[in-house]
Amino acid sequence: MEKIIKIYSVICIIAITMSCFFSCGGVPEDKKASAGTEKAFSVEEVLEMVAKENDVTRTLYTKAIVGKGKKQGMKFDEDWRKDDVEAGPLPALFLRGVATSIKKSPVPLGLYLGSDFPINAANKFEGQQAVLFEQIKKDQKPQFFYDDDQKLHTAMFVDLASAGACVTCHNDHAQTAKSDWKLGDVMGATTWQYPKDSLSYKETVAVLNSYAKGTVDIYMEYLDEIEAFEKSEKPVIGDKWPEEGNYLPTAEVFLDSVKKLSSYETMKHLVAAK
Ligand code: HEC
Repeated sequence: MEKIIKIYSVICIIAITMSCFFSCGGVPEDKKASAGTEKAFSVEEVLEMVAKENDVTRTLYTKAIVGKGKKQGMKFDEDWRKDDVEAGPLPALFLRGVATSIKKSPVPLGLYLGSDFPINAANKFEGQQAVLFEQIKKDQKPQFFYDDDQKLHTAMFVDLASAGACVTCHNDHAQTAKSDWKLGDVMGATTWQYPKDSLSYKETVAVLNSYAKGTVDIYMEYLDEIEAFEKSEKPVIGDKWPEEGNYLPTAEVFLDSVKKLSSYETMKHLVAAK
């Protein structure tokens, strides 16, 4: 519990630092009074920022935890939550965990990972998203549209087969809809949704924080799962990574690396907006 509080305070400090920057001196005089509440970013810009954070998180988890962890004998499984399966979440299920946590938060941000040839039929794109995914497959550029049925601004970003593990696992999976994926293929897209067309600084920071909190939540669930292992060897949880042996970073160390890899880009965006 103490650990969770510590991690959330790190997230809060980031938020406070950002909002302090905008309200004390970071923005011109006349903007001061309304800083934090006036509309500062278009929904497209914000979804682009959070998608960038997600790219870094997803790559870090896939390569540094799943990829290197497997070499140490750690297991990752789609049924990782089952009591008799002693394993961690696959990358797609890690992302689903983040999405579930965001859904429980007060931030109205939606996140979904889909494809045209999915392993899980529930992840197949439909309607307008299926049409735009065809375009993403051609140019790999983000797509934005207003979903009239759901009344949500929607952004889609390419999800590439960036590691050999993506290809082999999907090609070999018993339920796969396609078994000739190659490295670099467009395997799917992340879809992000938000109800408003523009966001204040406060709302923007809330979106980024709810994503970061989602990462911590699912990662902590993974560490809890390890805690309950009975048959498998438990990795040592601390400040080391699987690359060095049978180790896993704490949620705090994991989040810290994500922040280091992505926050510069995000911060540049936040500061350059005026
Ligand atoms: C060890 C196996 C494994 C690895 C590695 C893996 N995936 Fe998956 N992936 C799955 C499974 C299983 C699902 C379905 C999860 C579910 O039930 O929603 C999935 C879901 C997906 C989906 C949603 C569509 C679908 O197929 O259901 C995409 C897109 C995707 N993965 C892309 C990737 C990419 C890109 C990588 C590498 C960065 C990757 N996957 C790595 C097993 C894997």
